[in-house]
Amino acid sequence: MSTDTTENAPTAAGHGTVPGGIQDIAFATGHYSFDLAHLAEKQGIDVNKFYIGIGQNTMSIPAEDEDIVTMGAAAAQRIIERNGTDGIRTLLFATESGIDQSKSAGVYVHGLLDLPREIRTIETKMACYGGIGALQMALGLVARNPEEKVLVIASDVARYDVDSSGEPTQGAAAVAFLVQADPDILAIEPAQGVYTLDVQDFWRPNHRHTALVDGKFSVGAYLDALVGAWNDYRAHGGVEFDDIDWFCYHQPFTKMAVKAHMRLTEEAGTPLDKAAAAEALAPTFGYNKQLGNSYSASIFLGFLALLDSGQNLAGNRVGFFSYGSGAVSEFFMGVIQPGHRDHLRAEEHQKILDAREPIEYDRYRELHPGTLVQPVENSTTERRTASPFRFEGIDEGSRHYGRS
Ligand code: HMG
Repeated sequence: MSTDTTENAPTAAGHGTVPGGIQDIAFATGHYSFDLAHLAEKQGIDVNKFYIGIGQNTMSIPAEDEDIVTMGAAAAQRIIERNGTDGIRTLLFATESGIDQSKSAGVYVHGLLDLPREIRTIETKMACYGGIGALQMALGLVARNPEEKVLVIASDVARYDVDSSGEPTQGAAAVAFLVQADPDILAIEPAQGVYTLDVQDFWRPNHRHTALVDGKFSVGAYLDALVGAWNDYRAHGGVEFDDIDWFCYHQPFTKMAVKAHMRLTEEAGTPLDKAAAAEALAPTFGYNKQLGNSYSASIFLGFLALLDSGQNLAGNRVGFFSYGSGAVSEFFMGVIQPGHRDHLRAEEHQKILDAREPIEYDRYRELHPGTLVQPVENSTTERRTASPFRFEGIDEGSRHYGRS
C-alpha cells in the first residue's frame, strides 16, 4: 500500500499528463426512509438477514412528488451554488429509471436550475454503469477542451417486485458532480479496464416499473466481470494491486462489495477472508447502507462516504469498480488530491440523511408503484417533498416540475 499522504503526493500516476477528474460532488435522496426491520417483521424472518447477511439497514423511498429529476436537480443545485455555471458546456444525466423514452431527464433539470442555454444535455444508460460511462465521456470532453466543465448527474430509483428476493435491495438517490481539468478532489488516471458480456442477469422491460433479476446469477456475473475488468486494467498499464489504498465498488447491497473484494484479493494473490475484506471497505459503506441501491449513483455514494469519513486521504489511490447488469463493467483509478478537504460536505450529507421521514410497512406499500406501468394522461401529485423541487403531475401526457 502507498503511504504518501503529504501535500507533495502525486496528482495522478500514469502516462505523464495531468488528467481531469472530480472538482465537487454532492448527493440528494428521497423524502422517506424505510427500515428493513419492518420488511423482516412482515416476512416473518430474522432482520439480521438484511442487517448482516446483505449489509443493508434502511432504504430511501421517494415521495409521490419526487423522482429522478427532483433528486438530480436537488443534488446539482448544491454543486452550482458553490461553483457557479462558468465553463459548464455539457450536462450528462445517467439513469436507468428514465421518465421519458425521448427527452433527457437532464433537460428538465436544466430548466429547473435555469442553466445557461449554451449547454449540450444528454441522458446515458447502461444499468448501474451509466454514471461511470458518463464520467468517462466527461473526461474525454475536458481533455479536449480543458477550459470546459461537465456537470454529471447520476440519479435512480431502484424498484423490485414486492415479496421478491430483490425487495430488500431497493433504494433511491442522486449524485451530482463537476468534472474539470486539474480537479481539487479526485484526479482520474488514464488506465482503464473495461469488460462487456451479453448476459441476462437483471433487466427492466419498458412496460415495467420493477426490474426482473436472476439474483444469484447476477452476483456471479458481477464477480466474473470484476475479474475481467481487473485483468484488462492491468493489461492496459494499471498500477499493481499493492499500490492501491482504497477500493470503491458498485454496492447494490454492501455485502456484494465484500464478496467482490474477496474475489479480487484472491485474483491478486493476497486473499482476504470475509471479516478482513469487510473491514477494508467499511469506510465506503456509510451512505449506501442507509440509502439502498441507487443503481448509477451507488458507486459515487461509496466514494462520498470515504471522503466524508474524516481521514486525511491526500495522495491516496482509490480503485473503482463499476458494474452495470447486462453487463458492462470498468475498473479504473483515481488519486485523492491535496485540497480535497476544502470541498467536503459531510455535515450537509448527514443532515440530508437525518431529515428523511421514517415510514412503516403500510405506507411503504402505498408508495410502491406495483409491477406494470399504467397509462396516465392527467394527474396531480400531493405536496409531500421537502426537496427544493417537486414533480407536480402530468397534463396531457407531459410531465410538469416546479420549485417547492
Ligand atoms: P436471497 O437469496 O434472499 O438471500 O437474496 P440469501 O439467502 O442468499 O442470503 C443472503 C445472505 O444473508 C447470505 O450470506 C446468508 O447466509 C445471509 P452470503 O452467503 O451471501 O454471505 N443470512 C444471514 N446472515 C445473518 N443472519 C441471518 C441470515 N440469514 C441469511 N439470520 C440476493 C440475495 C442478492 C439474490 C437478492 O438480494 C437479490 O436478488 N438482489 C437483487 C440483485 C442484486 O442486487 N444483484 C447484485 C449483483 S448485480 C448488480 O450489482 C447490478 C444491479 O445493481 C442492477 C444494475 O446494474 O442496474 C442489481
